[in-house]
Amino acid sequence: MLFRQLFDVSSSTYSYLIAGRRGGEALIIDPVLEKVDRYVALLNDLDLRLVKAIDTHLHADHVTGLGALRDRTRCVTVMGEMTTADVVSMRVAEGDVIEIDGVRLDVLYTPGHTDDSYSFVMPDRVFSGDTLLIRGTGRTDFQNGDPRAQYDSIFGKLLKLPEATLLYPAHDYKGDTVSTIGEERARNPRLQVRSVDEYADLMNNLKLPNPKLMDVAVPANRHIGLAQDRADRIGLAPSAARAIVAAGGALLVDLREPAERARRAIPESLVHTPYRELADALAEGGLLTTLARATGKRLLFICAYGERSAMAVEAARAAGFQDAVHVIGGLNAWALQTTFSPSPGS
Ligand SMILES: [Fe+2]
Repeated sequence: MLFRQLFDVSSSTYSYLIAGRRGGEALIIDPVLEKVDRYVALLNDLDLRLVKAIDTHLHADHVTGLGALRDRTRCVTVMGEMTTADVVSMRVAEGDVIEIDGVRLDVLYTPGHTDDSYSFVMPDRVFSGDTLLIRGTGRTDFQNGDPRAQYDSIFGKLLKLPEATLLYPAHDYKGDTVSTIGEERARNPRLQVRSVDEYADLMNNLKLPNPKLMDVAVPANRHIGLAQDRADRIGLAPSAARAIVAAGGALLVDLREPAERARRAIPESLVHTPYRELADALAEGGLLTTLARATGKRLLFICAYGERSAMAVEAARAAGFQDAVHVIGGLNAWALQTTFSPSPGS
């Protein structure tokens, strides 16, 4: 495994670049906007292809690099299902697995610092965001923070991990880089409490100033989706898309991953090409190239929220499929349309 802990001095943020092997797929956790050039250079140096950029929660102290990395590398953006960000390509919930070639992150929902805080677990380490820090815990006084929820997340979930599990937080202000679950259980001063009430009292009396960048970072981090006009120009409203599919005029290609499809199927979709396999599918002899030529139908992409599908249209058009389009708003909008207006012929 390839593992790099990267630091942003101005916000004391740690970002983590992980890959199964040199030359393979990579993911990044909690990237910082100002550092995107550095990440891209490092990806190039290590011959890595960034396929997922993940935030543990909506940050208040720095602007996320998710949107810029998506635009630079065409990676998929990922956050927890509780996020208030406008659009991320993929939303995950506790029990889900975030997967790339050679790396699996198990998703834990660990609210408390914010109500959209998640931790990501590998067999020997955990990325705890701002839920559990080294000798500290994330503040709970804004963004729907809740010390009682945080107590449950820490004592009920994170401290249940094996003692030797390495703890990699989203920040450190003292210069520490890593700890373990066992060390924090024994030595973290915030965890030496006898009850949830005592913990809540402690957290409710920290009297911290707001983060310097909060008024800039929070609104910016809520608007990270692909520019809507760019996505709309190459898309169809769900009703129009449905009509074309019903008339047999398009191949509806579901770009979601198998786990997302298992949770919620699109009955009309017969072609499944996970977004990360798109380049191969659009190559000469690839699945989509072959199917589109054999049937004479245009490619119509759909995903969860309309972001991966917009990027897929751009890739398909670049590969010569000029009439490729996508479903604006993704399955979310497609399913709403089923509920509120009958599809053609029904
Ligand atoms: Fe935070």
